[in-house]
Amino acid sequence: MSSHNESQDPGDVPAAIPTKPSRRRFLQSAAAAATVGAAPHLRAQTQTPTAPPAQVQQAVPPRPVTLTVNGRAYTLQLEPRVTLLDALREYAGLMGTKKGCDRGQCGACTVLADGRRINSCLTLAVMHEGENITTVEGLAANGVLSPIQRAFIEHDAFQCGYCTPGQLCSATALLNEFRNGTASTVTADVRIRPAQLSDEEIRERMSGNICRCGAYANIVAAVRAVHEGGGPVSGNDNPNA
Ligand code: FES
Ligand code: FES
Repeated sequence: MSSHNESQDPGDVPAAIPTKPSRRRFLQSAAAAATVGAAPHLRAQTQTPTAPPAQVQQAVPPRPVTLTVNGRAYTLQLEPRVTLLDALREYAGLMGTKKGCDRGQCGACTVLADGRRINSCLTLAVMHEGENITTVEGLAANGVLSPIQRAFIEHDAFQCGYCTPGQLCSATALLNEFRNGTASTVTADVRIRPAQLSDEEIRERMSGNICRCGAYANIVAAVRAVHEGGGPVSGNDNPNA
């Protein structure tokens, strides 16, 4: 009786022994596949990228722009991309307004446009034709410093003075805003007009003006003094008059 366990003659080789791929062959095929797969990528890496067709930008020529600054009309030849800050400093020659960050973060460039404080580095000069611009040079009237300018001196509210023109313009607008009933983010109840400008209110409303010398305590004291004095905040009580 034959048995399944019948031993095989060692000389008998089965007709089809599954061929076991050798380790070397396997590695060769894998390397070949990887090379084929990577070929397009390698080609892409070695190809010089085609430059997009050069765009010819037509220069926008300067045109006359009339700005009214501190009550005087300046007609300047300006390209439309010139900021109000550069127009004031580089074209009108009014260097009192300072350039700190040139990106709306420090407040050194603060001026008043129709009495409203703005960062002049963030706005184009051509947008302000017809408005009354007030810079630090325009706060004094007839050679007399405005109350806020005097308070800054009396309270020692500056050291190097670089931020001071922006602080003065900002404080001038702040006092007018408060007097007109404008609320701030720290106003407890915006429906009730607070009688007094607290230090917290002053700090919040002046927070857009950075002082790297850290004269903040004295700046707050100066603003508070003018507020408590109750008088006009600029030499003529209207910086645009
Ligand atoms: S220069 Fe305009 S905000 Fe700093
Ligand atoms: S006084 Fe120097 S940055 Fe303000």
